[in-house]
Amino acid sequence: MDLLIKNGRLVLAHEIVMADLLIECGKISRIEESINLNSIPRIDAEGAFVMAAGIDPHVHLSLPTPKGYSSDDFHSGSQAALAGGTTCFIDFVTPEKGENLKTAFLKRKAEVRHCYCDFAFHMSIVEWRDEIPDEMEVCVNELGITSFKTYLAYQKTVGISFELLEKTMNAAKNLNVSVTIHAELGNEIDQMRSEAIAAGQIENSFHAKTRPDFTEYKAVEKVIELVKKTQCETYIVHVSTAESLKKIQQANQDGIPIYAETCPQYFTFNDSVYAKEKSQSNGFVMSPPIRSEENRKGILNGIIQKQVLAIGTDHCPFSTQQKNAADNFSEIPNGAGGIQHRLALVHAAFVHTNQLSMIEFSKVISAQAAQFFRLENKGEIRIDFDADLVILKPVSESIGQQKLYSKSDIDIYANEMIYAKPAIVIKGGYIVFQNDQLSEKPPRGKYIHRK
Ligand code: URP
Ligand code: ZN
Repeated sequence: MDLLIKNGRLVLAHEIVMADLLIECGKISRIEESINLNSIPRIDAEGAFVMAAGIDPHVHLSLPTPKGYSSDDFHSGSQAALAGGTTCFIDFVTPEKGENLKTAFLKRKAEVRHCYCDFAFHMSIVEWRDEIPDEMEVCVNELGITSFKTYLAYQKTVGISFELLEKTMNAAKNLNVSVTIHAELGNEIDQMRSEAIAAGQIENSFHAKTRPDFTEYKAVEKVIELVKKTQCETYIVHVSTAESLKKIQQANQDGIPIYAETCPQYFTFNDSVYAKEKSQSNGFVMSPPIRSEENRKGILNGIIQKQVLAIGTDHCPFSTQQKNAADNFSEIPNGAGGIQHRLALVHAAFVHTNQLSMIEFSKVISAQAAQFFRLENKGEIRIDFDADLVILKPVSESIGQQKLYSKSDIDIYANEMIYAKPAIVIKGGYIVFQNDQLSEKPPRGKYIHRK
């Protein structure tokens, strides 16, 4: 698709320029002070910021759990993403135990229907078998997967031990790809949860109390040792404590290839959310939990200090019905949505408050994830890159005033104020969102085969 964007303030990798941008065949083909081509459809951006669209490196669409699937499938999840200025995301393949990784990948890929965003997968390693290194090689060399996900939490289901993590890291390092880690001490947490339930401590505040800060930062500490040993590029997902972030930053400065992701929930809320009445606090049951105010400020500060490689969402909403069906905190399906709000929330917390520049904003919501996860030709406004763009407009409204595309009836961010949102979203040169409306027939997204 060809399109001309006139008069925008283009947020490039190192500078902001007032210029025109030409899209040809879905790619950015020219950036010049003035481009005049009457034969091509045009948008007058009138001094608005034009940025690379968002890339969310951490989403769970149609995630199977014992309490049913997470609310959004690839259709509703991608609609919500586009409405929020995100045109590409990375979801997960979670194989059954004993299942060949390629088989699991093919099954997962077949579940993707009517997805309007480009997408990739992290492959989860949930066990160790002799064949796993060979299957990982197939993932990398045949299936286009360059990141493996491991869980140290959830020991009763997908979680693995530090020993298996080390094997996974060695195999990934041999293949020159990365490992992403949900870093929480699963066994310690399981024990605390069992003790709490046995003692009748069933309220949602015990979800947080049975996952205290140390269960994250001690896991991070052990992971750092393994990264040092294996030299495997490692990305810690949804970092929620200030101490974890400090340790990751220190290790990174010492030359250890470890990087942090955090999510908007960890700089937006504090653990007072668990004091709300059950029906309200159920939405905040996620892992890691929402932390203390001190941690919230530590995460905010870490983002300002550029200690975070990417801000993902961990988008994994459930319905009120699914959340309310549980008798105690340990039965509530874990997760919350956020894919539609990520750009606006990050903008409100950091750009609106003059703590990040537009260039730095663009890096944490798009460019750095694209580089780390090898999403070729994405994440920046650059010649020959995909024309996945967002034109922002200033607003002053609460999130709850917007039309929401998630299928979940819970939005933990409904009361949050935002100060910018997408006026127009462009994907592969097509206008996919404009005038607060999704286009009627956005083109389908494609699977990104990473190298
Ligand atoms: O509570 C969460 N985060 N649910 C989604 C799955 C995960 O642990 O990332
Ligand atoms: Zn997750």
